[in-house]
Amino acid sequence: MSRIQDFCAAWTFVEGFEEEWARARQSGETVELPHTAVELPFDYFDERCYQRQFTYQKNLVCPPDMEDKEVSLVFDGAMADAKVFVNGALVANHPDGYTPFEARLTDHLTSGDNLITVSIDGTENPDLPPFGGQIDYLTYAGIYREVWLKVTDSVSIANIRIETQHVLQQEKTVVVECDIANPKNLALEGRWRVDLLAPDGSIVKTQETDLAGPRTRIEFQQLEDIALWTLEEPTLYRLKVALHTASCKDEVTNTFGFRTAEFSPDGFRLNGEKLKLIGLNRHQSFPYSGYAQGRASQEKDAEILKEELACNIVRTSHYPQSSWFLDHCDRIGLLVLEEIPGWQHIGGAKWQDEAVENVRRMIERDWNHPSIILWGVRINESPDDDAFYRRTNALARDLDPTRQTGGVRKHTNSSLLEDVYTFNDFVLGEFELPFSNRPRLPLRDQNEVTGLAKNVPYLVTEYNGHMFPTKVFDQEQRQAEHVTRHLDILNAAYGDDSIAGCIGWCMFDYNTHNDFGSGDRVCHHGVMTMFREPKFAAFAYASQGDPDRRVVLEPVTFWARGERNIGGTLPLIILSNCDQVRLNFPSGAHADVFPDKNTYPHLPHPPIIVRHEHLPESELGSWGTKWYDIEIIGYLGSREVARRNYVSNPVADRLQLSPDRSELTAAQNETRVVIRALDQVGNLLPFIDAPINIQLSGPATLIGPTCPSLRGGATAFWIKRTGNTGAISVRVSSTRFEDSEIQIVAS
Ligand code: GAL
Repeated sequence: MSRIQDFCAAWTFVEGFEEEWARARQSGETVELPHTAVELPFDYFDERCYQRQFTYQKNLVCPPDMEDKEVSLVFDGAMADAKVFVNGALVANHPDGYTPFEARLTDHLTSGDNLITVSIDGTENPDLPPFGGQIDYLTYAGIYREVWLKVTDSVSIANIRIETQHVLQQEKTVVVECDIANPKNLALEGRWRVDLLAPDGSIVKTQETDLAGPRTRIEFQQLEDIALWTLEEPTLYRLKVALHTASCKDEVTNTFGFRTAEFSPDGFRLNGEKLKLIGLNRHQSFPYSGYAQGRASQEKDAEILKEELACNIVRTSHYPQSSWFLDHCDRIGLLVLEEIPGWQHIGGAKWQDEAVENVRRMIERDWNHPSIILWGVRINESPDDDAFYRRTNALARDLDPTRQTGGVRKHTNSSLLEDVYTFNDFVLGEFELPFSNRPRLPLRDQNEVTGLAKNVPYLVTEYNGHMFPTKVFDQEQRQAEHVTRHLDILNAAYGDDSIAGCIGWCMFDYNTHNDFGSGDRVCHHGVMTMFREPKFAAFAYASQGDPDRRVVLEPVTFWARGERNIGGTLPLIILSNCDQVRLNFPSGAHADVFPDKNTYPHLPHPPIIVRHEHLPESELGSWGTKWYDIEIIGYLGSREVARRNYVSNPVADRLQLSPDRSELTAAQNETRVVIRALDQVGNLLPFIDAPINIQLSGPATLIGPTCPSLRGGATAFWIKRTGNTGAISVRVSSTRFEDSEIQIVAS
């Protein structure tokens, strides 16, 4: 039997919690983890609906031979203040909603049936981070990540820390610290065997050594022919660690990579090479299900950031996120700034102790991820508190001397207790403040921010967001301004060597409290919607990517004569990594337009901006003149690589159904399906809000409503496999369109 088994199926779920329930099984709904205690509507809900208690129960059947084993349940994450009981006895209490914990069941188990009860408190307890003040996001409630049953011998492997050294030299070193769990305090003699495995599974080198107390340090030296972990080729090695004592054995395998990551006053270097960090902030929330989406959805978000948005870094705002997400960042080569839970508010002594503990929990879970390059050890945007932040920094450095620390603030002249001054720079919106005498400025000068005369390692960790909320169905002109603001900041960050990079607010819109957002419980701050459908601003990022990986040609237009103020479509920003575009008009006239290097000298791929002077005289239409179709062609050199067509008379033509995956396996058991309303040439109909009916048959359930409306011409839902194999058919209908159907296989 493997030491870890999935323990997610068939929990009983009820609202409320009463102490005596810990001894008697309740009848309730049968649910599978990850699970959200309350499935929410898309918007305009009362967020207090999940701020209460819930109970999860499950029977654990113990065979007689389990009696001399160590048995525990490993919770990847439960929101919040989870208490675990076995047969009525409280065995674990984990207050933090974002970090894993283990509930030791040993000594409480009997042969046969054992009742596991988990009480979950969804209230926003002011004694715990991130609560006590306001927070611009929701925390939801439930056992929203996986739970595992762990069965080991009395002595087992507790954790492994892998440190790579001399990474840029020919001969590299790996130092492994192996910690044991020995809850019965047995006298010990034993041996470690550690195999260093290449990506293909072959053994690079093996080390054996005696067990040396609770922690044993093992070194691999003079490792040659080792491939580095890079963004293009994120090569991963593994360490297979085995422990043998007279009566116990255990084995775990950990993944790691060889890379260096260093912030200095002149920027960031990965493996010694300068890299401008360009990224977005990610919350871990989804519409309807809150935090409770599994592996496939977590991995998809990482892929969207890297492949679709061409980002090289993500900030896990504002808490440690799913291990599935981080594992995938390792696999695909996406850098990560990970931070402890919290938002602006610092609580009292107990609260601060919890926050310090969160530093430990985050780092001890995640220290082997090559993708993580910086620990965020401040409460996001909190005021200075030197005593508190000396503690978080000291602990981070003690646990992991290989990584630098940051801590996100939005105030200037802050005490720099971290290695990197990480700053949320919202200056671009400030020219609009009443009585402001700021000019329109993309980013502040770092010395003005830090108050220091010399440059320090410096990273911009947020911008835009609440300074310019933009809905996917907002007027084209506003969306163009949204695009421009992101471009202006990217250009400024690319152009300033003293800025290591910039991470925008934010990847996608998110549900939030009533005192933030647009009143609808949505912060429309994303460059994508909550469904991860791009707004135009998404292409400000995407278009900076290498065209050899993905060609981008995205005109910021709905191509309508009367959408903008006064009418017309100019200036027309075309977000693209092409060398030039040609606009073909129905008259046979054409216009060739090139990237605007004057306005955006520092961007790898400045936008192509079509202005009046680019158009042939015959095509300078104004309000009331004849409206026309257009064709826009993108070229790399003289080669046509992309083409967009727009019609002057778009009509509702069809519903496109686009699933992220066509097969659901036991491990990858859910998928997003996007519905888009398209016109006759395949463009989105941005203002059609038609209701849609979703019908599902086969072994899958729908996450979300069966009858949503399109928003901005699109919507999406997630489906989750229920366990059986077979064909899943997804059919959508709407009075405006013919039915559309796709098949997905549960294998
Ligand atoms: C920041 C905060 C984010 C989000 C953002 C909106 O102040 O750190 O969580 O609220 O503003 O722009």
